[in-house]
Amino acid sequence: MYMDMEAPAPPTVDPPPGEDAYFATLIAGLEEIAADELRERIPDATVLGAVRGRLFFSRSDPAREALNLLTIEHLHAYVDQFHGISSQRAGLECIEERMAEIDLDGAVRLHACLHPSPRRPSFRITAKRAGEHEYNSVEISAAAGAGVVQRYGWDVDLEEYDYDVRVYVKNDTALVGLRLSPEALSRRARILHTAASLNPTVAHAMCRISEPQESEVVLDPMCGAGTILIERNRLAGPGILLGGDLHANPVEIARKNLAAAELTCALVQWDARRLPLVRRSVDAVICNLPWGRRIGSHRANRHLYPAFVRELSRVLRPGGRAVLLTQEKRLLTRLVRGSDALTMMRQLSLSLSGMHPTIYVVTREDNT
Ligand SMILES: C[S@@+](CC[C@H](N)C(=O)[O-])C[C@H]1O[C@@H](n2cnc3c(N)ncnc32)[C@H](O)[C@@H]1O
Repeated sequence: MYMDMEAPAPPTVDPPPGEDAYFATLIAGLEEIAADELRERIPDATVLGAVRGRLFFSRSDPAREALNLLTIEHLHAYVDQFHGISSQRAGLECIEERMAEIDLDGAVRLHACLHPSPRRPSFRITAKRAGEHEYNSVEISAAAGAGVVQRYGWDVDLEEYDYDVRVYVKNDTALVGLRLSPEALSRRARILHTAASLNPTVAHAMCRISEPQESEVVLDPMCGAGTILIERNRLAGPGILLGGDLHANPVEIARKNLAAAELTCALVQWDARRLPLVRRSVDAVICNLPWGRRIGSHRANRHLYPAFVRELSRVLRPGGRAVLLTQEKRLLTRLVRGSDALTMMRQLSLSLSGMHPTIYVVTREDNT
């Protein structure tokens, strides 16, 4: 049996008359933030629903602008979904049969609105699987591909394809889409990476959650490659951005990345446990802390986190807020709850790089 625990089941997708359906794939946990971004940036789009890692919407005009959304990974034309796929090997025959019946014409039409149309199309299937099945995703790709060839006679080309047909199988249900984004929309922002560089879509979501205001002072005290600072600028302009890191190498990388983004920002090599900033001088802290895995260790975090949380309550102005991402959930929660100055407002659990970190939204009380 092949097992995979990430298991989103798609909702019923029923767009209003005259509208085409789409779905975006995104980092699981960001659905609500991505839906807000979609509503704000494409007001005439209709949000149809979401499950972990997918956002479904529709629109009457081709959703070209959705390729500019900053909290999603990929955009797809919604094709169809079918149910009743056996978890046994016979399920593969069912997938082939159903894919041979599936109508890709509408999705191809939407693709043609965004990309040049091929004269003799080639395609590949990208399959993902969640649940328990006696087959793997490569076998699903082969079965689904055979179905598409039966119906459309397109050439299979795994590298130089025109169409990437996506098949997401969850338990007995398959969701089928045609990818419209030429590459992952998260491939942006940085030219250089550090060991634990954050996915820019997550950095962008954290900046949105911080409810940015113009001209405010924003701090990332453990900035690594500078992803959060770059996304904050992309979202709301520079304001006054401050960033720093304990090590010279990430500070240098951040400097190059910020220069490439034509962004002016004060970058300092410092220790986030002793920030060279005056009391109550910062409006918002947005930070991806060391999770104690790729960067640091739990033992090191037991020293870092208490000192950092003390600094957080010192440098944040009353009413200021912090948006913090970490896998050290118990440690951070305990420290924030134990602080007189800080209040935990909101938590968002993500699935990221095979782990389940949480975004914490913390505010600084007015009266302490
Ligand atoms: C998870 S990474 C941040 C990654 C960053 N968001 C990015 O996209 O590249 C955490 C960073 O914290 C830094 N760090 C660890 N301890 C620190 C400390 N005491 N003061 C400042 N930075 C620290 C590490 O060097 C590392 O770059």
